[in-house]
Amino acid sequence: MRALARLAVTTLLVAAPLAAVTVATSTASAADDPVPIIVLTSDFEDGTAQGWTGRAAETVTHSTAVAHGGAGSLAVTGRTATWQGPSLDVLGVVEKGTAYTISAWVRMTSGSDNVRLSVERRSGGVAAYDQVVGNTAVTAGGWVNLTGRYTLATDVDFLRIYVETGSTTGDFAVDDVTVSYVPALPIQTGIPAVRDVVGEFPVGAAITGAEIVGDHGRLLSRHFASVTPGNALKWDATEPSENTFTYAQADPLIAYAKANGLAVRGHTLVWHNQTPSWVFTGADGQPMTATAEDKELLLARLENHIRNVAGHYGDTIAVWDVVNEVIDENQSDGLRRSTWYTVAGLDYIRTAFRVAREVLPDAKLFINDYNTNVPAKRDKLYALVAQLRAEGVPIDGVGHQMHINVSWPTLAETEAMIQKFVPLGVEQQVTEMDVSIYTNSGESFPSPPADRLLQQAYVYRDMFALFRRYASEITSVTLWGLADDNTWLDTFPVTRKDAPLLFDTRLQAKSAYWGVVDPSKIGVSPSASVSVSPSASASVSPSASVSASASVSASASVSPSGSVSVSPSVSPSAGVAGCSVTYRVTGSWPGGFQGEVKVANTGTAAVSGWSLAWQFTGGQRIAQLWNGSVTQSGAAVTVTNASWNGTLAPGGSATVGFLGSWTGSNPVPAAFTVNGTTCAVN
Ligand code: XIL
Repeated sequence: MRALARLAVTTLLVAAPLAAVTVATSTASAADDPVPIIVLTSDFEDGTAQGWTGRAAETVTHSTAVAHGGAGSLAVTGRTATWQGPSLDVLGVVEKGTAYTISAWVRMTSGSDNVRLSVERRSGGVAAYDQVVGNTAVTAGGWVNLTGRYTLATDVDFLRIYVETGSTTGDFAVDDVTVSYVPALPIQTGIPAVRDVVGEFPVGAAITGAEIVGDHGRLLSRHFASVTPGNALKWDATEPSENTFTYAQADPLIAYAKANGLAVRGHTLVWHNQTPSWVFTGADGQPMTATAEDKELLLARLENHIRNVAGHYGDTIAVWDVVNEVIDENQSDGLRRSTWYTVAGLDYIRTAFRVAREVLPDAKLFINDYNTNVPAKRDKLYALVAQLRAEGVPIDGVGHQMHINVSWPTLAETEAMIQKFVPLGVEQQVTEMDVSIYTNSGESFPSPPADRLLQQAYVYRDMFALFRRYASEITSVTLWGLADDNTWLDTFPVTRKDAPLLFDTRLQAKSAYWGVVDPSKIGVSPSASVSVSPSASASVSPSASVSASASVSASASVSPSGSVSVSPSVSPSAGVAGCSVTYRVTGSWPGGFQGEVKVANTGTAAVSGWSLAWQFTGGQRIAQLWNGSVTQSGAAVTVTNASWNGTLAPGGSATVGFLGSWTGSNPVPAAFTVNGTTCAVN
């Protein structure tokens, strides 16, 4: 209430609860992406600061000196520390377990700085700070947008978003802040659990605090048999300063795993990333070098770290990635030139395994790395493991991260990777699998194209079939995330939306899920069996995603229990008796725009293969189109179906998206035809 009262001056739209739930048709097409609900807007157009205050004694006021949109913005002046800046109470607005997108526009008053957007939360007086958007360069020359994702994972009695800077205490302005979320869909309960289908080894997911609460937690425990804390056990999280150990991030995750009977993979005791700089700072305060003194200190710190962290969890964590990413295939000895290596040589690896074994005599100790399918890297890793094991270093297993994509690597190369390590007699685990929809870092799609999602489903199908065939070697397969709403690939190697996991951003099973669980359903409908709440007055529109060549129409029925079954049947190709088209401009900027066109079959017979045509009278040109193929001749645009969305069942639809250019004006086309028939325009 306090938060709501405070926010009354802002435009506050709170979503109505999802009472009647729609059928969770997670199709191969991302065309039906839901519209986010905005729960908070601060536009500073009403002449007030709209509830924003300073974090200390700095001044936060409404201003008309500059504005991103409209005439007003929020100005902060008089800061005496970089952490000071405007902040807003969002307690009661931001709910635990819901994934929000927070967006703000920022502009320096003069000069430049890095600006960050964060959340401060408190529980019983204990404060924690979650970064939503990291250091972003901002100048006085223009507005810069900060957008990030945030899920509150704990109960709090204080919650504020705030903006601060990286290095100066300069004045800056903030405008057009929004907090929004995509409404949740119920977790599908009528589909098989991955953990039940894949019985050969535990299938796991990497998790953060956001994955163990609410629907995420339910999805996690339903489908997975193992978890890996994605960051919570890394050095920066567990020993941020020397000999000060904290398990605040990891303990709730491990407790969740225990309570739900899930195995835990400990990740990771030694890595060159996410390790605080104090670890590599010598007694003299200088960066460590290859001296005997620095080596001794570094190995002592390593030993202390492992004794504490591995010891804290004891047998609860029975598998550890003891060392992570130590191979560099471009070095003749194959060893990454991390500070670990340059200061301590191979002894850091020897020490790490020795100490881990002393602390945990029964645990499985792994060496973990990426690109282990690449022969050069694989062979260097093999040589290292062979050498160390021959020395008696207790390495029990090799972890293959498997951060792959829809067109790489080949199955044969992956099989060769597994076969390579068989003679060593080690266990092998797939530790961080995800399948990016991108094949290079130059690509970026506004939403996942259906053909990539389909390709991805086949990759998951083939890889899981391979792993299961090698179940005598592979003792666990972990995916690097639970669902596409929280994946590290959204910012790595570049910032763009990726969709590499089995469940989509709304936690619904993707084609990729069916690739693992029942490949026969990939081409028919990814959501062939979904469960809805019995009260739902759902209109069932079976997925238009049908197998590439056959002419298939899907008929759906809703059983009293609410479980929907879709049975494909082949029907003869039919003409277009009726059609309707919805054309939308979904984004526009000077010279460019993004649009989508939905074509629906309003007739009573299935349409097999469609060609959609319209005229662009304003000189617009289509630059790129997805979910179909396009030709344009002058004003005349013709879009034909993709291989997978050519069949439109009665009532079915397909949506294409595109990027276009425009000059002067961007009029909406007045008329559309499908296969020559003029369609109703929505
Ligand atoms: C990633 C985490 O998922 C991110 O949240 C973090 O920002 C960077 O690290 N290989 C590994 C993992 O071994 O620890 C990495 O995890 C992904 C690549």
